[in-house]
Amino acid sequence: MTRYTDDSRDRVRDAVDMVALVSARTELRRAGVNSYFGLCPFHEERTPSFHVSPDDRLYHCFGCQASGDPFKFVMETEGLDFTGALEALADRFGVALETAAEDPGASSRRQRRDRLQSLLSRTATYYARYLWDAREAAAAREYLMSRGLTEATLREFSVGYAPSAWDRILLASRGAGFTDEELLAAGLAQRSRIRPGQIYDRFRERIMFPSTDARGRVLGFGARAMRDNQRPKYLNTADGELYHKREQLFGIHLARAAAARAGRIILVEGYTDVLALHQAGLRDAVGIMGTSLTEEQVRQLERVVRVLDLCLDADRAGQDAMLRAARLAAGRKLELRVVPLPDDTDPAELVEREGVEALRARVESSVPFVVFHVERILERADTGSAEGRDRALDELRPVLADLPASVLREDLLRRVAGRLELSEGRLASLLASPRPRAAAASVSGAVATATLDHGERAERTFLALCIAVPQAGADALREIDPDELLTSDLYRRAARHLAGRTGSPLSELPPDDEELARLVADLVDRAGRAGSVSVDQLEHARLVLELARIDRAIRRARASGAPGIAELARERERVLEAIGRTVARLETAV
Ligand code: UTP
Ligand code: MN
Repeated sequence: MTRYTDDSRDRVRDAVDMVALVSARTELRRAGVNSYFGLCPFHEERTPSFHVSPDDRLYHCFGCQASGDPFKFVMETEGLDFTGALEALADRFGVALETAAEDPGASSRRQRRDRLQSLLSRTATYYARYLWDAREAAAAREYLMSRGLTEATLREFSVGYAPSAWDRILLASRGAGFTDEELLAAGLAQRSRIRPGQIYDRFRERIMFPSTDARGRVLGFGARAMRDNQRPKYLNTADGELYHKREQLFGIHLARAAAARAGRIILVEGYTDVLALHQAGLRDAVGIMGTSLTEEQVRQLERVVRVLDLCLDADRAGQDAMLRAARLAAGRKLELRVVPLPDDTDPAELVEREGVEALRARVESSVPFVVFHVERILERADTGSAEGRDRALDELRPVLADLPASVLREDLLRRVAGRLELSEGRLASLLASPRPRAAAASVSGAVATATLDHGERAERTFLALCIAVPQAGADALREIDPDELLTSDLYRRAARHLAGRTGSPLSELPPDDEELARLVADLVDRAGRAGSVSVDQLEHARLVLELARIDRAIRRARASGAPGIAELARERERVLEAIGRTVARLETAV
């Protein structure tokens, strides 16, 4: 990361024309010496409460309290970090920045970066010129036009064409003083497999989409095949010193400001989708380049916006990608919405087929992710059979459980009830209580299972079920003696903690008992995944522990020769009978 001197920063601040800077976002009127007013660019308003003092280089909104200096203004309106804002303002107001004294390592790294960077930009320029000038690029031009893309859009994104010859970039770059090593490092050349020591152009006969950082500096390329037998369809710059595919957002330099202003960004899969959306006037669109949104991309996006509109192909891959994106967004301050697209259609095709307005209308009618998710479960559900509807309920339970009470939730519940042919009351009770069969299956199959013996597993199952049926669980915990029924100290602590808290197991955990906290979290997780659990299921689990307790007592009595074995044996019989009865009830209940 480049560091600039404090003096540079002060010179940039002095050079900034605050009125010119802010006027690009909102119209300002003069109100006095060193005073301008306008509508606030940071919140919706009808009467101007946004104030700018050009001499002090400050702004302040009396409506929403937004305030700051030119750097903050650029950071907030363009989604840049401080250094980015400083560089952008230095560019705009013609100030040369000086870097703070760096250690020799840092300075040589920066020089290296600058050189690779300039090699990549010159190459992008070369490709772009070649697209418009070269005879061999005529087919590419025609193809792009036939896709409905205009010259202005293609030029704005610096789309280019890579010559079919093997060495154009090589020769041009060498001529400009770049070494073969730099060409390789920038991802523009590759080594020959046939002739050792030789290198040649990586991209040939392809349409070139330059991929940039947030400020528009070229870091790599996506290169689309022109011929049918050319593989792969898109050849991308390999990950290297500058280019990291997981971090790239195609079009971010053009989308950033619009996205920061709108507070949302539209995510599409492909290069051509981004171009099509921008051409359609949806300036806040970026490409994630393939279906999977990465953690790195999400981290950048959350600095700029609060809402992600996923506009991915409605095919299976696109739908799975949306679920993955939802997992990435979970726990962040990001709201995920889904733009409904017709099957097997990407946004670029939609513009071609139905026109710009149709796409815009779809983007504007994006739905909260949870709506999409519920619809998807219902769509796939086999609502013809009771089993299929139960399975759908099991899938819906966690999705709806995360949703706070709201009109949206009510709407969804009504919709689910309709589709599953249940009354709303019945649906609510089914959602609240999980099923026994699923419980037995999922409570036993999980994380630390391998290290638990049979007895411990039964104890864990019992505790998880106490959470799954909180009311009956509370009764059961009140009646048992943890020291008798449970064999490890950890499980006893858990039982004591859970007694009276089966409805809110994670509350009031003792701060110093990490082990207990982990166990309780695991139990809650198991209870959640257990599906619907009945009171009989819990009773069954308790009786299994009771049986084990009696067996332990019998073993002890045998070992010590103590009396009372006969009484214990009779007790054991009674427990076995009770187990038989609960099993019978469970079987008729399903
Ligand atoms: P698509 O195959 O949907 O391509 O891949 P597209 O964007 O619709 O391309 P056009 O419209 O046919 O020209 C979506 C995205 O996945 C990445 C690219 O970023 C592409 O834009 N991709 C696809 C690759 O990186 N490599 C590939 O071989 C294919
Ligand atoms: Mn496409």
